[in-house]
Amino acid sequence: MILVSISDKMSMYTKKVMELFRNPKNMGEIEDADAVGEAGNPVCGDQMKLFLKTDDRRITDVKFQTYGCAAAIATSSIVTKKVKGKKIEEALKLTKDDILEDLGGLPEQKVHCSFLALEALEDALDDYK
Ligand code: FES
Repeated sequence: MILVSISDKMSMYTKKVMELFRNPKNMGEIEDADAVGEAGNPVCGDQMKLFLKTDDRRITDVKFQTYGCAAAIATSSIVTKKVKGKKIEEALKLTKDDILEDLGGLPEQKVHCSFLALEALEDALDDYK
């Protein structure tokens, strides 16, 4: 189930954000994950959990769970799509700008939502180490 804040006005999002919100990629849990990362957003109170499966320092699978807004769901989809198949070292280079660019931007008041998935990824990579 996807929970969305009632303050989310869908018309403020790009087509890409809406596409990923309606059809999220890599949503779920990895039962036997090699690393798990968590992040919380102090601005809105939303939470994110990210699971990694690795083989020889390569991310072979990645999934996320969130109680977040449409922007958080879309950014998580992008983050997971971008790091799947990558080496840990490459995944560490991912930036907020990379994600915002792929989404075609986010409304100013929603940019903080893009931090959530990246912070969960960084936390998972720390857990991996
Ligand atoms: Fe909480 Fe977007 S409003 S993550």
